Amino acid sequence: MTILGLGAMGSAITERLRETGLTTTVWNRTTAKTEPHVKAGSTAATTITEAADASDIVIAVLLDHASVHQNLEPAAERLRGKTLVNLTTTTPNEARTTAAWATEHGIDYLDGAIMATPDMIGKPESLFLYSGSENAFTLAGPALEPLGTTRFEGTDPGVAALKDMALLSSMYLMLSGYLQAAAMMRTVGVSATDTAEAVGDWLGAIMGHLPGFGAIIDSGAYHPAQGQDVNFTRPAVASLIAASREQGIKADFLETGKKLLDELAATGRGDSDWVSIVESLTIR
Ligand SMILES: NC(=O)c1ccc[n+]([C@@H]2O[C@H](COP(=O)([O-])OP(=O)(O)OC[C@H]3O[C@@H](n4cnc5c(N)ncnc54)[C@H](OP(=O)(O)O)[C@@H]3O)[C@@H](O)[C@H]2O)c1
Repeated sequence: MTILGLGAMGSAITERLRETGLTTTVWNRTTAKTEPHVKAGSTAATTITEAADASDIVIAVLLDHASVHQNLEPAAERLRGKTLVNLTTTTPNEARTTAAWATEHGIDYLDGAIMATPDMIGKPESLFLYSGSENAFTLAGPALEPLGTTRFEGTDPGVAALKDMALLSSMYLMLSGYLQAAAMMRTVGVSATDTAEAVGDWLGAIMGHLPGFGAIIDSGAYHPAQGQDVNFTRPAVASLIAASREQGIKADFLETGKKLLDELAATGRGDSDWVSIVESLTIR
């Protein structure tokens, strides 16, 4: 198998693949980074074309969409007939663009998204999402399984990247909630470490409600509200904003949610379930 890119992630992936007994050829823009891998048993290629020639399956773990195209486009003809698995983080449309480019050049393309940090590679909690060519997944999937939990998300090459971005969005928004709590509690001398524990316990306790929210959204049955309605939630969020400000803490994250609730109330949907906010997120 060929791996293009030996940054923190590409190196961790290469190490794990080598551990499973795979023959690995590596390429990296900065050639010095190939040295430890060669010492450990990989073969270094000096050009992308040489790297592409070495294996039927080529894994790209480069920085971004631009670096993938900058390096792979000149080697397109040497990749013809091969399976290309692109684990570089991209947006969904960038993944679709690369898939279309690959198809044009007879390259079987699988897009991948890594929900893990390099130290997690090889552990079950490291999640690899794939989408695009089913044939490419059938060919490359078994060899990639030792990297972590593997999921094929569908034939739209953008879906793995979309799910990656959606999960990361939820993570950043939830962690922003922790930062809000830490800022509030620091004003009375409670450490961010102690607030982290309290927030972790609280979020853990309410996580069980998520599937119920999902069922309401999927049914579209927002009215009558099955849980808290907009009229209940608006003043609740207003109190959170007031409490933050009383302590001298900005409430920008909360104000965004309040604005969406205000819009629902203003358009006569005050007695709808508060999770109907999800409908307001579509750009019209
Ligand atoms: N690290 C993580 O926790 C993590 C988690 C999930 C996903 N990812 C994704 O995995 C990919 C790699 O991340 P990383 O952590 O390995 O990043 P990194 O340590 O910064 O390594 C970046 C890699 O891309 C190469 N590169 C950058 N620009 C290039 C260019 N113009 N032409 C050729 N090669 C170029 C670098 O080569 P040089 O060595 O020559 O600079 C290096 O091999 C990214 O898309 C990242 O979003 C990373």
